[in-house]
Amino acid sequence: MTDPNLIFPKGFLFGAATASYQIEGAVDEDGRTPSIWDTFSHTPGKVVGDDNGDVAADHYHRIRDDVALMKQLGLQTYRFSIAWPRIQPGGSGAFNQKGVDFYSSLVDELLDKGIKPIATLYHWDLPQELEDAGGWANRDTAQAFTRYAAKVAETLGDRIHLWTTLNEPWCAAYLGYASGVHAPGRTNGADALAAVHHLNLAHGLATQAIRAQLPEAQVSVTHNLHVIHPADPGSADDLDIVRRLDALGNRAFLGPELEGAYPDDLLADTARITDWGFVHEGDLKDIHQPLDLLGINYYTTSVARKWDGVSPRDLEDGHQGSENTPWVGVDDVDFVRELGPRTEMGWLVDPAGLTELLVRTARTYPDLPLLVTENGAAFADSVDADGQVRDSQRVDYVSAHLAAIMDAIDAGADVRGYQLWSLLDNFEWAWGYTRRFGVVRVDYDTQARIVKDSAKFYADVIRANA
Ligand code: FCB
Repeated sequence: MTDPNLIFPKGFLFGAATASYQIEGAVDEDGRTPSIWDTFSHTPGKVVGDDNGDVAADHYHRIRDDVALMKQLGLQTYRFSIAWPRIQPGGSGAFNQKGVDFYSSLVDELLDKGIKPIATLYHWDLPQELEDAGGWANRDTAQAFTRYAAKVAETLGDRIHLWTTLNEPWCAAYLGYASGVHAPGRTNGADALAAVHHLNLAHGLATQAIRAQLPEAQVSVTHNLHVIHPADPGSADDLDIVRRLDALGNRAFLGPELEGAYPDDLLADTARITDWGFVHEGDLKDIHQPLDLLGINYYTTSVARKWDGVSPRDLEDGHQGSENTPWVGVDDVDFVRELGPRTEMGWLVDPAGLTELLVRTARTYPDLPLLVTENGAAFADSVDADGQVRDSQRVDYVSAHLAAIMDAIDAGADVRGYQLWSLLDNFEWAWGYTRRFGVVRVDYDTQARIVKDSAKFYADVIRANA
């Protein structure tokens, strides 16, 4: 199923995605200050191999070459993120001109090569000073983010094709503050729910700030929406578990952002953890802003059942294992390990889940165009004697997921593009450099780039659609 001649609707945008901390390196150059990921990765035992993003893919020093590579592959868009502590050291006050210059040159370079920039304002690298003041569990962080967003809009202005306020606030809130497997590594359910709200608020306020600055701007947010099936669709208990996971994982964000309210069942389910007193009057109005696009990141699906409290649990949750669950308050869930092909992350390969997710979201929000802002796979690829990387599993993965998007489009979903994760091998958070997601290989000793077969396949798809 690797047909590069799959033809998408005219104007469908083919691109690739990255994130600042995962590729840039240069963590203490030109005025950048530490983010929570610098602190976390430098804390022994938090990241596999105690890897960190100090050098990463050295993208900070290689934007000309990396953008030339994007051009060579025919990318039409490039989704990158802006490191808040690089552009606004410490997360408040004046902008750092050298940080601004870096992103400004990146954007100019992209535009010069005919590639549309998609800028994410927050892909998890919170300035450490803001975490010290309470992080996302503190309402002030949403205000600080809004000031930062307004200034970025003012600075990079109309050169950006599409703005994304936040990347996967689910991970930022629940992995950062509940399970603690991501920075800042806190493990408190009430803080995680406060973080959910303050991230929602940050999104809404920043959206308003961008629009005030740039009335023509296109604004979006990106979520890793969960596709979770009940182990036994005939079991009321299993269905109820799925409902609770859906409330925490999906509707805790889509509810306020797209419908102006937190779901009643979410508030009831979590009542013994928090009274949601951090939701102030007027917040929901601020959060509920018209959007031009909804970004969806998709990798896998999961199957859940109610745990009987006795039998050993599979606890196959598709995320880094941890004693603390990201699923705040759902103590009686068991994620069932399904048979099937898996990526190096241990994630089940399930392209049909992407079709299901896109069609379901499109039916719930019929007027909101969708963009797949991340999709891709980690595999343990190697360099052959002739210098080639024949990553056929990644080719199959990308191909099958592109076909799944076509199926969703055929079923009526308005999907505007695909941003492959990722352009380059990079620092995969708690997995460090042990997981390679790139369609371009990075040799971390020399920083040489090797175009893998998956990148060639993707370039063929783009060419066939040109
Ligand atoms: C997503 C993140 C991205 C990358 C992929 C594999 O959750 O947004 O940075 O780590 O997973």
